[in-house]
Amino acid sequence: MGFSSHGNLFFVLFMLCFYVWDIGSATDGITPSQSIKDSETIRSKDGNFTLGFFNHPNSTNRYVGIWWKSQSTVVWVANRNQPLNDSSGIITISEGGNLEVLNGQNQVVWSTIVSNTSSNTSAKLSDGGKLELMETTTGNSLWDNFQQPSNTLLPQMKISSNRTGRGEQITSWKSPSDPSLGSFSMGVVERLGGILEVFIWNETRPYWRSGPWNGGVFTGIDTMASAYRNGFVVEDGVEGNKEVYYKVKNESEFSIYTLNSQGQFEEIWWDDEKTEMEVSWTSQHSDCDVYGSCGSFTICNAQSQGTKDSPICSCLKGFEPRNKEEWDTQNWTSGCFRSTTLQCERAKDQNTSTDTKEDVFWELQMVKVPDFPEGSSVEPDICRSQCLANCSCVAYSHDDVIGCMSWTENLLDIQQLSNRGLSLYVRVAYTELEHGTTSAQAF
Ligand SMILES: *[C@@H]1O[C@H](CO)[C@@H](O)[C@H](O)[C@H]1NC(C)=O
Ligand SMILES: *[C@@H]1O[C@H](CO)[C@@H](O)[C@H](O)[C@H]1NC(C)=O
Ligand SMILES: *[C@@H]1O[C@H](CO)[C@@H](O)[C@H](O)[C@H]1NC(C)=O
Ligand SMILES: *[C@@H]1O[C@H](CO)[C@@H](O)[C@H](O)[C@H]1NC(C)=O
Ligand SMILES: *[C@@H]1O[C@H](CO)[C@@H](O)[C@H](O)[C@H]1NC(C)=O
Ligand SMILES: *[C@@H]1O[C@H](CO)[C@@H](O)[C@H](O)[C@H]1NC(C)=O
Ligand SMILES: *[C@@H]1O[C@H](CO)[C@@H](O)[C@H](O)[C@H]1NC(C)=O
Ligand SMILES: *[C@@H]1O[C@H](CO)[C@@H](O)[C@H](O)[C@H]1NC(C)=O
Ligand SMILES: *[C@@H]1O[C@H](CO)[C@@H](O)[C@H](O)[C@H]1NC(C)=O
Ligand SMILES: *[C@@H]1O[C@H](CO)[C@@H](O)[C@H](O)[C@H]1NC(C)=O
Ligand SMILES: *[C@@H]1O[C@H](CO)[C@@H](O)[C@H](O)[C@H]1NC(C)=O
Repeated sequence: MGFSSHGNLFFVLFMLCFYVWDIGSATDGITPSQSIKDSETIRSKDGNFTLGFFNHPNSTNRYVGIWWKSQSTVVWVANRNQPLNDSSGIITISEGGNLEVLNGQNQVVWSTIVSNTSSNTSAKLSDGGKLELMETTTGNSLWDNFQQPSNTLLPQMKISSNRTGRGEQITSWKSPSDPSLGSFSMGVVERLGGILEVFIWNETRPYWRSGPWNGGVFTGIDTMASAYRNGFVVEDGVEGNKEVYYKVKNESEFSIYTLNSQGQFEEIWWDDEKTEMEVSWTSQHSDCDVYGSCGSFTICNAQSQGTKDSPICSCLKGFEPRNKEEWDTQNWTSGCFRSTTLQCERAKDQNTSTDTKEDVFWELQMVKVPDFPEGSSVEPDICRSQCLANCSCVAYSHDDVIGCMSWTENLLDIQQLSNRGLSLYVRVAYTELEHGTTSAQAF
C-alpha cells in the first residue's frame, strides 16, 4: 500500500516535471526577458528540431546544441570547444543584443558576436533547423547558425569554395562523444578551369574526393542514389565562390548529411516505424574511397577480391610498380611509373620523330577521373588533339557538361565505378597497344 502511494506520488511528480518541461519547450524563441536554463529546451514549430543543453552519455561536458528528432542526432553545436562542466548554464540575449551561452559564473562561453545595438533582438528556431537572431521590431536577420555549420549539413546549408583559401566547411567531432573540433573537415575545391570537387581532409591531407561535378551529379560517386533524390545543387556565391548544398524534394524523404568523427560523410534518415536513425549512405565503401590509396598511375577496383591474385590496385597500362617488393605485399604507397618511353619524349630527346609511331590513348571506361583536372570548353576531338600535341599531357577526358579535362604529370585517385563514371584516355606508347589488349581501345 505504502509502496503504491509512493508510486502515485512519483507519478504525480513525474507528470508535474513533464508539464513544466513542456512549458519550457512550448516556445520556439528566446527573448531578452526569456532565457533558457539548462533543463529547458525550445522547439521548432513542427517539433522536429530542438535547441537545448545536452551531454553525451559517456561524458559530463554540457553543450548547447540543436538536435533532429532525437537527442542522439545533434546537428549543430554552439560551444564546441568550450564545454560547460555542470548544468548551471543558460542561453540568453545579452544587453548588446547577442545570443550568448553563459556558465554558472555568468562568464560568456559562446556568443554570436554580431549585434551591438540598443534595439531589441530575439532568437527563433525554425522548422528547417535554422536558429536565427533578429531585430525584434524589423525582423531583420543579424545571424543564423547556417553561417556556422558544425559537422552536419541540413537542407539549404552551404559549403563553399574560396579562391583565396578554404571556404565554408563542416568539421567532424573529435569522437562520437566529443563535439570539439575533430581532425576531418569537408569543403569544396575549384580546380583550374572551374572544375568543382568536394573534399574531405584529414587535417590538411585529402582523405576523400567526390570527383568532378557535372552539373547534376558528382562523377566520382556511383553509390549515392538517394542523395540524388535529395538533389545537390551548385550555385555562384559571393566573390565568385561556388556554393554546394542540397534540397529536399519530398518531405517524406527528409535526410541529413553528417561528417562523422572517422571522416565518413553519411546520409542519415529517420525511420518512423523503428523511431531511430538509419545511415542510408556513406562515402567510405571500400579502401578505394580513400584518396590516392593505390598511389600514382594506378586504378583501384573495389570489385576485385583484394587477394594476391586479384588485388584492388593495379598499374595503368604502360606502367609498372615503382617498388615491386612492396607492391607484392599489397603496400601500394609507392604507386607505379611509366615503363615504356613515349614517342613524344623520344622525339624531344633525340630530335628524330620519324622512326616510331605517334603515341596513342588507352581508354578506361566508367572511372572516377584523377585529381587535378584542368578544364577547358573545347570539343572532344580538339580535347584529344591538344593533349596529343603536348607531351606533358598524360591523359584527357570529355564530358558534355564539364567539357574537356586534361592532366599533366601525375595521375592520382582513379577508381573503377559501376555507374556515373567517365571515360579516361591515358597516353601510352603505340607499342603498348600493339601487344594485343582485350579491354582497351586505341584512339
Ligand atoms: C560509452 O563507453 C563505453 C565504453 O567505452 C562504450 O562501450 C559505450 O558504447 C559508450 N556509449 C555510448 C552511448 O557511446
Ligand atoms: C567548472 O568551471 C568553472 C569555471 O569555468 C570553475 O570555476 C569550476 O571549478 C569548475 N567546476 C568543476 C566541478 O570542475
Ligand atoms: C559596442 O559599441 C560601443 C560603442 O560604439 C563600443 O564601445 C563597444 O566596444 C562595442 N561592443 C562590442 C562587443 O563590439
Ligand atoms: C525592448 O523591449 C522592451 C519590452 O518589450 C521595451 O520596453 C523596450 O522599449 C524595447 N526597447 C527598444 C529599444 O525597442
Ligand atoms: C575566403 O578566404 C579569405 C582568406 O582566407 C577570407 O578572408 C574570406 O572571408 C573567405 N571568403 C569566404 C566567402 O569564405
Ligand atoms: C588521420 O591522420 C592521422 C594523423 O596524421 C592518422 O594518425 C590517422 O590514421 C588518419 N585517419 C585516417 C582515418 O586515415
Ligand atoms: C514522397 O515520397 C513518398 C515515399 O517515397 C511517396 O509515397 C510520395 O508519393 C512522394 N510525394 C511526392 C509529392 O512526390
Ligand atoms: C517533421 O516530422 C514529421 C513527422 O515525422 C514529418 O511529417 C515532417 O515532414 C517533418 N518535417 C521536417 C522538416 O522534417
Ligand atoms: C609501405 O611503403 C612505404 C614506402 O616505402 C613505407 O614507408 C611504409 O612503411 C610501408 N608500409 C607498410 C605497412 O609496410
Ligand atoms: C631538330 O628539329 C628541328 C625542327 O624539326 C630542326 O629545325 C632542327 O634542325 C633539328 N635539329 C637537329 C640537330 O636535328
Ligand atoms: C603543355 O602543357 C603544359 C601544362 O599544361 C603547359 O605549361 C605548356 O605551355 C604546354 N605546351 C604547349 C606547347 O602548349
